[in-house]
Amino acid sequence: MRVANKLRLGILGSGCGTNFLAINSAIENGGFPAEISIVISDIESSVILSHARQLNIDSQFIDPGSYRTKLDEAAEAKYVSLLTEAGVDLVVLAGFMRILKGGLLSSFEGRVINIHPSLLPSFPGLDACQQALDHGVKVTGATVHFVDQGVDSGAIIMQDTCRVLDDDTPVTLLDRIHEVEHKIYPAAIAAIAKGEVVKNGRKTARTTISEC
Ligand code: GAR
Repeated sequence: MRVANKLRLGILGSGCGTNFLAINSAIENGGFPAEISIVISDIESSVILSHARQLNIDSQFIDPGSYRTKLDEAAEAKYVSLLTEAGVDLVVLAGFMRILKGGLLSSFEGRVINIHPSLLPSFPGLDACQQALDHGVKVTGATVHFVDQGVDSGAIIMQDTCRVLDDDTPVTLLDRIHEVEHKIYPAAIAAIAKGEVVKNGRKTARTTISEC
């Protein structure tokens, strides 16, 4: 049932769903007006869908079609109609490993956000942790950004950092980045839900900084 004045989230994910769980916990703990309307995955056996089912949140698998890195046109149309039917205000990509093209982005213009495991514009695309290790950076982090037509190139909403240790592997580094992600993704969604995020071209600003 739709609750008035709550930002309705449609979460898209392909993997473990730890960001989805962090967002759900933050909403349950109160403090910002949002609710998760639907979780959609391109992978039928994904852990994110199991988590959603356990939490009694509407969840759906939609076959992505024949491409490896994007949705085919028919699949993208299904995503749009399901998100629209669910009354989604904000599409939240949480480990959704496919590039979105025109259809979904134009239907939800300015209302699709993503989290990426690096300090963008460094290390966009796949294997961000391996890229950071290969480059030898001492600090990395996570970025929440609006999604545009490019790869991890949209206006940045929130970022935070973590250290890179000399003996890190992609797995140990990603664990540390996840801790950052689980704070900034709910915080960024809270700021959007409260109407505090203003987008101006490729930049965003916060009108008010509230406690998240
Ligand atoms: C997260 O680390 C997120 O930043 C990354 O996938 C992971 C999903 O984890 N996304 C990308 O790399 C997108 N380019 P989760 O399923 O446990 O939330």
